[in-house]
Order: sequence, then C-alpha cells, then structure tokens
Amino acid sequence: MPSDISLPSLAKAGRARIEWAGRFMPVLAQIRRRFLKERPFKGLRIGACLHVTTETAQLMRTLRAGGAQAVLCASNPLSTQDDVAAALAAEGFLVYARRGENRSTYYRHILSVLKLKPHITMDDGADLVSTIHKSFKPLAQGVIGSTEETTTGVIRLKAMARSGALLFPVVAVNDSKTKFLFDNRYGTGQSTLDGILRATNLLLAGMTVVVCGYGWCGRGVAMRAKGMGSHVIISEVDPIRALEAVMDGFQVMPLSKAAARGDLFITVTGDIRVISREIFRRMKDGALVANSGHFNVEIDLQALKKLSRAIREIKPQVNEYTLRSGKRVLVLSEGRLVNLSCAEGHPAAVMDMSFANQALSAEWLVQTKGKLTPRVYQLSEAIDREIARLKLKSLGVANDRLTPEQKRYLASWETGT
Ligand code: ADE
Repeated sequence: MPSDISLPSLAKAGRARIEWAGRFMPVLAQIRRRFLKERPFKGLRIGACLHVTTETAQLMRTLRAGGAQAVLCASNPLSTQDDVAAALAAEGFLVYARRGENRSTYYRHILSVLKLKPHITMDDGADLVSTIHKSFKPLAQGVIGSTEETTTGVIRLKAMARSGALLFPVVAVNDSKTKFLFDNRYGTGQSTLDGILRATNLLLAGMTVVVCGYGWCGRGVAMRAKGMGSHVIISEVDPIRALEAVMDGFQVMPLSKAAARGDLFITVTGDIRVISREIFRRMKDGALVANSGHFNVEIDLQALKKLSRAIREIKPQVNEYTLRSGKRVLVLSEGRLVNLSCAEGHPAAVMDMSFANQALSAEWLVQTKGKLTPRVYQLSEAIDREIARLKLKSLGVANDRLTPEQKRYLASWETGT
C-alpha cells in the first residue's frame, strides 16, 4: 500500500518544521543516537496511530533509527499536519493521513497500517488495538505488545483487560509521571488556549471560562486561563479533585449552574455528553464551546443541532448555531480536539518526554517479549526518573542528591522524637 497523503508538494516545508521541533526534543534525540547503535527494533514493524505532527515525525525517525519499519496513520481526522505527512512520506515512511479525512477514510487508514501486520502498535486513543480486537483478532498473535499515549485510551484498555478481552500487553505511556504531569498539564494547558486564540482571537482577560474536568489536563487549562486574567469556574464530579480546585483558588459549581455564567466552556473530562441539551439551553447568547478531550463526544452536537434553526461558519473552525430562541452558541472545530485542530498540539519541549516514554516503552516490550501477560503495564519508576534526569540536564538544571546519612535515615525507622 503506497502512502495516502494530501499534499506531497509540502514535503520541504514539513521537513523544515520537523527540524524546528527537533531543537526542543533533546531527550528523544539522545535515545535516537543510542538506538542507531543498538538497533533494538531490527527486523520489526511498528504501526503507529498518532497525531501526525512535527513531534510525531521525530518519534518516527527515532523508531526507524532503532531498526524498525515504522508506519503511521492519524489518530484524529482533524489533527494531521499535511506538510509533516508529506515530509515523512518523502523520507520513505508509509503514511496514511489526510487532514479533514472523513470517517471511512480514517478507518481505511487504520486498516492500511494493520495490513502491514505490525509487531508493535502505538496508539493515541486505542483505535489500533480496538480495531484488532473487534475485527482482526488473528493479527493479535503476531503483536508483541502495544503502547498507549492518552488517558482516554488507557481507560479503554484497562476496561478490556478487566473483562479479559485484551490479547497482548500494553504499556500505558500516559501513566508515567514524565508524561501526565507535563504533557497533560502544561501541554494541554497551553495548547488548548493556543487553539482557542488562533481560531477566535478572543481577549481572555475578564472572561468567565468554565473548565469541565479537573484532571491533569483540566488543571493545566484552568491554570493558564487564570494566568491570562479569566475568571475560572471548575465543574468536576470527583469530590477530591473538586476540593483541590477550591483550594487552588477556583470557583467550583455544578455545570448546570455555571452554564448561565460562562463566556467560554472548555471540556477536558474524557466522558460523553458533558455539555448536553440542558446546558446549551441555559447558556448566554454568544457563549463559545471547545473540547480538548480525546474524542468528540463531550459536546452533544446532535442535541445542539436539534435545538438550532440555523448553522453558519463564521470563519474556519468556528461555527455559529442559532437556537430557535434566537440565542447563539459558537462551537470550535466541531467539538474535536481544539489544540490540534486549531493549533499545532502540545509544544515539542513537552512531547520530548512523552515520546521518550513511547520509544522506551516499545524497547521495553521487545526486551520483555514472551514474559508479559495481556494486561496494562506502566513503565518502571527507574525509566521515568531517567527521562526526568535527562530533561533536567538538557535544560542545564542540576538537582540535589541525598547524602549517605540521609539515605540511611530514610531507610530506617528507629529514630524518633
Ligand atoms: N498530542 C498532543 N499534542 C501533540 C503533538 N504535538 N504531537 C503528537 N501528539 C500530540
């Protein structure tokens, strides 16, 4: 299957942007240099279903440096950067991704990757793994294991493992501290606002921003919106997280109450129909809604369509729905990941750690081949810490070390008051 991309002529522009991202990915570069010597993936095929961005291109090059035949399809129809797809295809990678592809092309592209019978799959949202388990079970026999990038995917995979459906081991990359504490918080925090601002050019100062969900992504979004001068309201179902939000200085209230107050609503819950018919009905005229959760299920667009008498595009990625009451609601990028559809996703400096985790997870799956059971694993604390150490070093930051006496003290229990 040859690559299926939109604009091969953009390869040169894509290559320049990939190099730019590379400047901020020193940890992955160090892993790439080692892989080039050690070739951990020699003779293996790695199928990746990730957002096709400059940072992902750096990961693909790293997997190839390790000896893999790495093939790529998009993990979201709207996130593909066509110039990057073109550059990777020009470098000889098989790439199946076109920005704006429809649902059937999206799944055709997933099948194109699976037809190559990957030994390792890399997912951002578990679509490769779930397609294998739903429609191509025999393929599972040849799969050493898989890696999963995002919270939503990990939740799905843990459900599969619990019900006994999972057929091979998976590493939850998302669960490494050097992933979720940075990518989810600072990456989603910044890139979500970046996407909203690029699409709308809003002034965040003085706006009331309602953030739905106070997980690591929600925290990042709330923190950055506050930093831009917005009044931030949090809606959250978990009492511990809600309490944290209170003590972080945010107003916390049920979404049904926040609905009438918000100027801008951002969903980052990972769950369905968070912004429902009832919430739309309570919103102010001109309220904006955007989603930064993995799937486009958080904003109930079907319900909004039913409530509306007219829909028009104000500008790219900004649709205005006029309700029968005359009230207008604006929806960004059809409720798909706003940070990747309206901006470029997380900055390279944070993807450096996420993709270092991806590369090392794939290597670990090869090293432990045949010894793992079909369940969801986490990368070891030692690898996680090593990624943090390398990142700190690249930033020119030194941290302290325990003295031998301090180590002994921490390992003992005798010393008291
Ligand atoms: N997920 C969020 N941001 C991303 C990026 N820049 N590249 C790949 N996946 C991402």
